[in-house]
Amino acid sequence: MKDRVRGIRSIEIAMPDPARAARFYRDVWNLSEVEIAGSTIYMRGTAHYHHVLAITQAHGTPALTRITYDAASRSAVDRLYHQVRAHTDRCEPPRELTSGSRGYGFGFTDPDGWNFAIVADVVDHTDQGPRPDRPTTITHVNLNTPDIPRASAFLIEALGFRLIDETQALIFFNADSADHSAMVLSKTPIATLNHVAFEMPDLDSVMRGAGRMKDHGYPIEWGIGRHGPSGNVFAYFAGPEEFPIEYTGEVRQIDSSYKPQGAEYWRWPPGRADEWGVTSPHTERWKRIQTMFAPPKTTAPPHELGHRL
Ligand SMILES: [Fe+2]
Repeated sequence: MKDRVRGIRSIEIAMPDPARAARFYRDVWNLSEVEIAGSTIYMRGTAHYHHVLAITQAHGTPALTRITYDAASRSAVDRLYHQVRAHTDRCEPPRELTSGSRGYGFGFTDPDGWNFAIVADVVDHTDQGPRPDRPTTITHVNLNTPDIPRASAFLIEALGFRLIDETQALIFFNADSADHSAMVLSKTPIATLNHVAFEMPDLDSVMRGAGRMKDHGYPIEWGIGRHGPSGNVFAYFAGPEEFPIEYTGEVRQIDSSYKPQGAEYWRWPPGRADEWGVTSPHTERWKRIQTMFAPPKTTAPPHELGHRL
């Protein structure tokens, strides 16, 4: 029996103007600022996680510099370390963490070059609970990969994900959670970020959030629609530095009785791109930004530590 991560706690992004990005994620995207430690700005949703977004100073192009998974306990972190270590040597041993949300965990790099962490025993908030118009947490990250078999095997074997559904373009992976999927892989020629999805507490919050984004000069790049396998309502945007972000809600809740389906099952009629049949196709801009956010270079600061937290 494999140990399993429980889902995504947070991401870290490097931005050329962290203060400007933080203003957007606070005033428009509706996260809340938690603290500024050194040059890193931490922002939270309404879930109990200490933060869901950490913004650092970019010393090159903007980048997704880390994805952090949640583990159930320190002993789960230790067991997950051995699982991960069996599949990569770009992996540090678990230790007490002194920055950000603290806790106990380790960093590692996956075969496509993305930096990750697994943490537990974190100093989280005691207040939590959904609030209208405010993201709760990050519900999934979608990565583009040129090597689906390798990337899938790593998620399943090293991290305990369950392959839960597959369409012609996407593969969905369920963490140890009722949420349908926490990781999604897209079949593409190069490794890049597809998008990061922030969960809203209800449908109206997704819709009003999309309106708020339009009001602030961030048009919808794809949506509003409803996905097939994961069942969620979606609206996609290009955030600061065109970082690809999604508001989503009503994610399908599943248990072990859920029957995964393949690409033949999850098909739309020609020309349709969502369950409702209302959304237009991706904008040209959305297609362009799909090529922009590659795994961070490990040779230049601040990413020279690569897999290490
Ligand atoms: Fe998504």
